[in-house]
Amino acid sequence: MNAPKPITSLTNDRVKAIRALEMRKMRKETGLFVAEGTSLLVTARDNGFVPETLVYQAGAAASGIARGLVTHALKSGAEVLEVSEAVLAKLASKDNPQTVLGVFKQRFIAPPRPNEVPANETWLALEEIRDPGNLGTIIRTADAVGCGGIILVGTTCDPYALEAIRATMGSIFAVPIAKMNHATFLQLARDWPGDVIGTHLTARDDFRGEDYRGPQLIVMGSEGPGLSSSAAAACSKLVKIPMAGKLDSLNLAIATALMLYQVRGPHLKL
Ligand SMILES: C[S@@+](CC[C@H](N)C(=O)[O-])C[C@H]1O[C@@H](n2cnc3c(N)ncnc32)[C@H](O)[C@@H]1O
Repeated sequence: MNAPKPITSLTNDRVKAIRALEMRKMRKETGLFVAEGTSLLVTARDNGFVPETLVYQAGAAASGIARGLVTHALKSGAEVLEVSEAVLAKLASKDNPQTVLGVFKQRFIAPPRPNEVPANETWLALEEIRDPGNLGTIIRTADAVGCGGIILVGTTCDPYALEAIRATMGSIFAVPIAKMNHATFLQLARDWPGDVIGTHLTARDDFRGEDYRGPQLIVMGSEGPGLSSSAAAACSKLVKIPMAGKLDSLNLAIATALMLYQVRGPHLKL
């Protein structure tokens, strides 16, 4: 078992390397990301994720949940760094100070094979999603409804950005995420054995009035331009969520939540 190494220097190389994961470029290069706080780290552990590095504030892991996380990380062979309050303040986000954080490997799954997706599953495709807060909220909602997984289509924001991770409240460790380019997605949609349900503001069908044949693939458009014409054309159904006010559209995360609950509702029980 490795002994924890206390760090007090703000210019320590490990501290600088972990801080650098704030940058998307560094997350891409290393394949790593940071999750902050005991609640997220417990969810990670419960989903079988072992941190590459666990960082905790000196004195904070004397007992309780943080102690358990440190013990688990040490037993799993992770690097464990005990740091001063000043060092942790430098590593953690300013508006959400925590006493423990973990550095994890990013996980992207291989895209689902259409002929192997069970008929009772629902998948979600997000085209060109831009806002990490929206993406994190959607991952959390997908977890809540038992979604099979999420497919990120085209150029999207990073699900492993800190803002997204925080909004997932730990669901980043539970929901499978795949990514693919547009051409691959269009082929997937063509091969999908159930309904491919696009959400579109010009659709004439009410999202509540439809029977959705499983496995369902729900397709959501981007915050700015909405669903592309090629993605819309690849859908077997296009539906709209009615709106009473004079607004153009709903927030993407809200619209996704309504769709997920409409389709997954019959599978959910209190
Ligand atoms: C903020 S909206 C994009 C609005 C965009 N200006 C457009 O014309 O589609 C982002 C996505 O949320 C979904 N969405 C939002 N409101 C919706 C509604 N009332 N009915 C169906 N989908 C909706 C769609 O997938 C849409 O592409």
